[in-house]
Amino acid sequence: MTESSFAAAIRERREAGGELLDLAVSNPTKCGFSYDEALLAPLASPAVLQYDPQPLGLLTARQAVADYYASHGAAISPEQILITASTSESYSYLFRLLCSPGDNVLVPRPGYPLFDYLATLDDIELRNYDLLSMCDWAIDFDALERSINSHTRAIIVVSPNNPTGHNTSAADRESLLVLCERHNLALIVDEVFLDYQIDDNCSMQGGLESPNTFATLKSTVPIYVLSGVSKVAAMPQMKLGWLALSASEPYRTQALGRLEVIADTFLSVNTPAQQALPNWLHHSRQIQSQILARIRHNLHTLAEATAKCPILDSVAPEAGWNVLLRVPGMQRSDEFAISLIHQQGVGIHPGSFYGLPESGWLVASTIVQERVFKTGIQRLCSYLMQESSW
Ligand SMILES: Cc1ncc(COP(=O)(O)O)c(C=O)c1O
Repeated sequence: MTESSFAAAIRERREAGGELLDLAVSNPTKCGFSYDEALLAPLASPAVLQYDPQPLGLLTARQAVADYYASHGAAISPEQILITASTSESYSYLFRLLCSPGDNVLVPRPGYPLFDYLATLDDIELRNYDLLSMCDWAIDFDALERSINSHTRAIIVVSPNNPTGHNTSAADRESLLVLCERHNLALIVDEVFLDYQIDDNCSMQGGLESPNTFATLKSTVPIYVLSGVSKVAAMPQMKLGWLALSASEPYRTQALGRLEVIADTFLSVNTPAQQALPNWLHHSRQIQSQILARIRHNLHTLAEATAKCPILDSVAPEAGWNVLLRVPGMQRSDEFAISLIHQQGVGIHPGSFYGLPESGWLVASTIVQERVFKTGIQRLCSYLMQESSW
């Protein structure tokens, strides 16, 4: 319930009328992208006035998600899909499906901070497994296996990961499946940033090096792949996500039957968004290409800035909307981030928010408007040079 010192510093800066260059903004609707008006057309259809409650989601919406996976080379049928109100809701449903109170799931560190809240609300425990910064964020499998106990139900993978921006390698995918099979665990894969591959040469259609969706994997391990329009169509306000389950029978039918009961209890997904989903997914490349152009531009700006600033370095992301900044020798990154707001009017997340070590790491959003990003990074550099006595 208490405001974090970071949030308080942002609020105080705004209340004092000071300029704020927010390099932590990750809400795409606040970043000056242009959304095609055609996206609104399906919301005016008479079909949105009909209520036809379907706990797993309207068939047309599930078919649209199946088509999305087909375009990524994965054969997923509408029967394998559950429509939810968000990826967060998908996680929560899976925690209820797979766990009893006190059970645990394994989550990557560094990783996405919302897991703590989701797990607490669903009475389960999280156990962190480390991604190794010195090894391109490969999974530390020894530590991962040691943290599995008789109450462990699933391993969560975020690929591309937030905030590191790396895709889970083919070798790690294979080892994850072996481990899940050995310990009878489900694999939950969050792919919300899948479509934001920064390297132009990354093919989404297959090939050994390509960052394919986990939905293409063939395995006896149950694999739940999660995503939604908040990133795929850059429309978080529409509140629509999904999960696709790949599993053999009878697991698949039983799990989807149970998920149907959970979803039927809430029926939380609104009809207009479900009706509009085929159109939104069909047009998603338009907004994705604007966002990718922004990300590439900002990463180029960052590379130019770090070349001139010896105490700031960045870790090139493969995908996603964030970039990691390295400031070797920096004291606590949370304290640094707060003084940066007060002294320079620049908001940037400390790495500790994402489970990175307390010192030396910052996380910047790359979807910030170009001018704001450039000025913010310049101010960060000059502040670092000025304060570099540490
Ligand atoms: C890795 C990851 N998963 C899920 C989400 C949330 O998605 P949704 O808005 O669909 O709940 C985010 C939001 O930033 C995210 O970074």
